[in-house]
Amino acid sequence: MIKIKIDGKTLEVKPKTSIIEVADKVGIDIPRFCYHKKLSVAANCRMCLVEIKNFAKPLPACATQVMEGMEISTKSKFTKDTQKSVMEFLLINHPLDCPICDQGGECDLQDTAVAYGASKTRYTEEKRVVFDKNIGPLISTDLTRCIQCTRCVRFLKEVGGMAELGLIGRGEHAEISAYVDKSVESELSGNIIDLCPVGALTSKPFRYSARSWELSRRSTISSHDSLGSNIEAHVKDDIVKRVIPKENESINECWISDRDRFSYEGLNHKDRITLPLKRVKNQWKEIDWEEAYELIEKNIKNIDIKKSDQIGIVCSPQSTLEEGFLLKKIAKELNTSHIDYRLLEKSFSKNNNWLGCKIDEIESHDAILVVGSNLKHDQPLLAHRFRRYANKKKNFSIITSYDDFHSTHCLEKIIVNPSAYINYLLMILKQVQLNTKYKINSQEIKNALKIVKPSNEAKKITQNLLSSKSRAIFLGHQILHLDDGDNIKLIAMHIAQAIEATFGLIPGYANSVGLNELNLNSDNISTDKILSQKKEAHIMMNFDPSYDYHSPKKINAALKNAKFNLAISPYISDSFKGFDVVLPMTPFTETSGTYINMEKRIQSFSAVTPPFGQSRPGWKILRVLANFLQLEGFLYDSSEEVKADAMIEFDKKNEDNLKVFKPSKIRSGLEILNLIKANDSDMIVRRAASLHKNKDQSCCLINPTTMLKEGLIDGQKIRISSSEAEVLINVKADENVCLDAVAIFGKKDETAFLGMDNKVKIKKA
Ligand code: SF4
Ligand code: FES
Repeated sequence: MIKIKIDGKTLEVKPKTSIIEVADKVGIDIPRFCYHKKLSVAANCRMCLVEIKNFAKPLPACATQVMEGMEISTKSKFTKDTQKSVMEFLLINHPLDCPICDQGGECDLQDTAVAYGASKTRYTEEKRVVFDKNIGPLISTDLTRCIQCTRCVRFLKEVGGMAELGLIGRGEHAEISAYVDKSVESELSGNIIDLCPVGALTSKPFRYSARSWELSRRSTISSHDSLGSNIEAHVKDDIVKRVIPKENESINECWISDRDRFSYEGLNHKDRITLPLKRVKNQWKEIDWEEAYELIEKNIKNIDIKKSDQIGIVCSPQSTLEEGFLLKKIAKELNTSHIDYRLLEKSFSKNNNWLGCKIDEIESHDAILVVGSNLKHDQPLLAHRFRRYANKKKNFSIITSYDDFHSTHCLEKIIVNPSAYINYLLMILKQVQLNTKYKINSQEIKNALKIVKPSNEAKKITQNLLSSKSRAIFLGHQILHLDDGDNIKLIAMHIAQAIEATFGLIPGYANSVGLNELNLNSDNISTDKILSQKKEAHIMMNFDPSYDYHSPKKINAALKNAKFNLAISPYISDSFKGFDVVLPMTPFTETSGTYINMEKRIQSFSAVTPPFGQSRPGWKILRVLANFLQLEGFLYDSSEEVKADAMIEFDKKNEDNLKVFKPSKIRSGLEILNLIKANDSDMIVRRAASLHKNKDQSCCLINPTTMLKEGLIDGQKIRISSSEAEVLINVKADENVCLDAVAIFGKKDETAFLGMDNKVKIKKA
């Protein structure tokens, strides 16, 4: 520790800390524009200049490290005069358009100008003008207002992982620019709106819809992935007008992904239903709640529930803990064990379905191996932690099918098709065995190990893991979407055990972990099993059967075979034609509830707006449904009471069902690669218009080498057929795709009906 003096106060501080960090810690305000605690130091705005004893010139507080005996004055006349001069320079070219600027009322420049600026300008020459650029449907530019702090440039390079903006020109001609004809495509791009200290970058969807002082700020938790980002919804007239991050260093730091930020547009989409719907002669008819409940009661009561498992219950992994618990309780009362939330999975082992460590512990490992995750789209914000880790520690390896880790330093990057994951993990396990005394009892695994020969890449990964002090292996949730997902998990767990590594699965959805902890699943009853056995009735909650379940064909057949089908959903679409009644439930912003995120952190939240129309929170719908069905024990008055009962279920531990290795059959031919884009992941984000304005051309992606082998050319139309459907689509060459695979966007209109069958055939159209 060293001793310094700041504004006359003596402090003991760590060496190599910057003056601005010290000042922030002790609550001394130093004005700044270019400095941001999460970005590299640019020191180009000069707003933070401070006086330091024995230095003839003022020094930038953000770029000057403290030294023993340093005496800093942040309030002296010299400092104030310097800062005033800098402010005057910055305002020379800044337009005086605060009344029409969307940033007005929450602008750093405006606030600092009030505190440090002069009341009159001495500059009478013409101000410069910079032409605005179209950088996409999410961010609006007014570049004449830009003060060239480069926060946006540094963010996209250092956090977004791709240098999508840059500063071109010098001096007065310096301006922010994207690549010619390119928009900003980062999944985290919206953060530059918050970072921009002036109104040069503002939110296109929010623009001019409200002034900042008209908005009520309400905290909630994002429902779009298992990170559980803390967010703040800004509400006017009971409508969410925008969403910004709420800082939580151990979860989302001070960022959010674009789908967390802009998905609010889907909340009031035209597909929202405001009243219960009943199907009459293939048409939907609005009915009141009383009639709807009576209709459901009549149909459910007709079922002989003495015979078990007559009713199948399936809900989304985005369902809250309270909704999951009430569904489970209803299932028990209706004598059915056929309940599940795993919609995309084909592997159903229940143990170790969480991260295995805290989110902020990920980067403390000395070596990391990730298998089977398209991180950028699966977990846009978590991907940033892995990128930062990889670039800093240079000990990051990944085995995946689609390469989206371009500007990231990977020790080893193995791009293979999903059926080859198991082989690579067996190679690593064999190599681990050769270097340790780890014993495996399973004869099946021993047999499988006999026939693999570790490749050089596998040897390098193993060597790296073994030579590091602390290591971690993380599997992407896509692993569970594969037929041999459980095999992959088992082998990865053996490797982790042998080298004493942290082992974790990166779960897909907001409450995948919570519903797993609640035991809303079983190792021998899966959604697949529920839907393949004939049922008298189904209750399905909070998902779209055609997009969110891996086999639209199977789910539609199950609905057809049942006598009565009830959907509880915020939206209606053509996918719901197999249902008899649809009850309008509220999305997460209009209900209270609890999610458990990937690190098992329990986060409860309240509604930020009242329910839309006559829709109701899911837990209330289920409670009243149980009352109508005269089921015992549903007298809850609040979601907190439901949560308290749900937590008791947590003590009942999941059993370890992952012991058996079932060697999978060798595959040949083309495999389907299901790329679920970040903005297609659930019903709300799919309806957020601005997230889809840059609509991808409908196409499938194939590696150029595979295209050559198959005799295909870029842009050609092909017919893809799976066991579910056949689609006609353009091919696009993409060298990021592994060999012998066809990558489709799994939840897009054009390809959703192919399902997630692992194998497909293609034909030239
Ligand atoms: S656009 Fe905003 S964030 Fe980017 S350099 Fe200009 S002022 Fe800074
Ligand atoms: S904040 Fe220090 S130079 Fe900009």
